[in-house]
Amino acid sequence: MQHTLIIFKPDCVQRRLVGSILARFEAKGLRIAALKLIQVSRELGEKHYAEHKDKPFFGGLIDFITGGPVVVGVLEGNEAITVVRSMLGATSGVAAAPGTIRGDYSISKQNNLLHGSDSPESAAREIALWFGEGEVLDYTIAGSDWVFGGF
Ligand code: RTP
Ligand code: MG
Repeated sequence: MQHTLIIFKPDCVQRRLVGSILARFEAKGLRIAALKLIQVSRELGEKHYAEHKDKPFFGGLIDFITGGPVVVGVLEGNEAITVVRSMLGATSGVAAAPGTIRGDYSISKQNNLLHGSDSPESAAREIALWFGEGEVLDYTIAGSDWVFGGF
């Protein structure tokens, strides 16, 4: 089972969409392994988005991600990284297909509601950055065989 990091960005919290989008992940069959509401520091934001530090939008992106509380979590499931990225849709809400989370709720390139890890390496790095030891929980959800049976 794969783990992936998700961030409900400040626009998602402010628009009160956290609950309804989290419900989509649960309904898909993903298990919540960690979840917390936090105010992101500039240091954490810059570490998380380090790959974009030379991009022209970097300063604005750090202003955005630190502009209000976020809900950050870890989801677990079969091919969770790809599954979550597919559910999010294209980066820009303008381009994202209807039916995806960004396609349904976002019309902005920056304010695109959620982050999802893009590779196993990114997921491992990001989970270690956002969560301490003991914060990512391993437990069994009743009926998992019905969800994951046969893969
Ligand atoms: P994320 O990392 O947040 O899951 O999004 P992503 O992989 O789909 O997109 P990425 O290229 O990694 O960009 C990171 C975040 O930066 C903001 N962005 N703004 N103004 C712009 O041109 C621009 N481009 C990207 C978005 O919030 C994007 O999610
Ligand atoms: Mg990215």
